[in-house]
Amino acid sequence: MMSKPLVGVQDYEREARWRLPKTALDYYQSGALDEVTLKENKEAMDRWYIRPRFMRDVSKRSLATTLLGHKVAVPFGVAPTAMQRMAHPDGEVATARAAGRIGAPFTLSTISTFSLEEVAMRAPNTLRLFQLYIYKDRELTASLVRRAEAAGFSALVLTVDAPYFGIRRADVRNQFTLPPHLRMANFQSDEAASNHLHTSDGGSGINEYVASLFDPTLTWEDVAWLKSITKLPLVLKGILTREDAILGVEAGAAAIWVSNHGARQVDGVAPTVNSLRFPHPLFPDGGPSRGGGGSE
Ligand code: LAC
Repeated sequence: MMSKPLVGVQDYEREARWRLPKTALDYYQSGALDEVTLKENKEAMDRWYIRPRFMRDVSKRSLATTLLGHKVAVPFGVAPTAMQRMAHPDGEVATARAAGRIGAPFTLSTISTFSLEEVAMRAPNTLRLFQLYIYKDRELTASLVRRAEAAGFSALVLTVDAPYFGIRRADVRNQFTLPPHLRMANFQSDEAASNHLHTSDGGSGINEYVASLFDPTLTWEDVAWLKSITKLPLVLKGILTREDAILGVEAGAAAIWVSNHGARQVDGVAPTVNSLRFPHPLFPDGGPSRGGGGSE
C-alpha cells in the first residue's frame, strides 16, 4: 500500500515523532527550561492575523523580493539548524536543495553533519548563507570564514545569543551525544575537539561542547574583528531588542535577524514576532494584530 502523502507541517511532525530516535527528536524539538517561550512563539504567530483585500487582479502573482541584494522567490527561508543527518542520511544537503527548488535562501549551521563544501557542491543553485559560531580558537574560526567565502556562501550569519547554550532538559536527561557514525563535518581533523560530540560528562554533550569550545567573551568589538577578516555581508542573528539592533548596525551589520533561537536559549524572553516593534512603517496604526486596523 502506498503511504499517505504528508500534507503540511503537522503531518511531518507526526511522522518525525515515530520515525526518529528519541535522542534526536528531543534535541530538535526542545526549548530551554520550562519551554514557556517555545509555546508562546507559536501562539504569538497564531494570533497574528491577515487582513485580506479582495477584487484585485490576481492572475499574476509573485512573492519575490531581494535578500542582501540577491533575488529570492519567497520572503522567507531556512534558518540554521544543527546536525540534520540525525534525521535523515541526506541531512543538510537535502534541505539546501529543497530550499533552492522553491527559490528560498538556506542557512547552513556551523555544526552541520555535511561540510559546507559538500553542501555548496550539491546545492549549487541555492542562495546559501553560513551561520557562524565564534570558537575560542580564532584561527579555526577564521578558517571557517575563508572556507565559506571560497565555497560561494553569500553572507555570514553570526549567532549572538549563544555564548553558552540554553538548558534543554531532555538533552540533559538523554545525555545527548551525536550518533557515532556522524561527525561535525565542518571540522576536518578527526582528532580535533571541534569534531567530537560523541561523549558526555553526564549532562548534555552539546552544552559541554559549547562550554569548552565557544568563546563566551564576545562583545561588539568581536564583530569588528569578524568584519576585518571577511568581505561577506554580516548578519547578526538572535537580536531581540531595539537597543541591540542599533548597536549591531553601528558595528557594521548588513542585516539584523530578529530571533529567539527557536526558544532554545533563554526561556522567558518574548515570542520573536512580538519583539518586532509596532507601529511599523508599514502598519502605522499598530499592525495587523492590534485591533484589526492597518492601512494600505
Ligand atoms: C541549537 C544550536 C545548535 O540550538 O543552535 O541547538
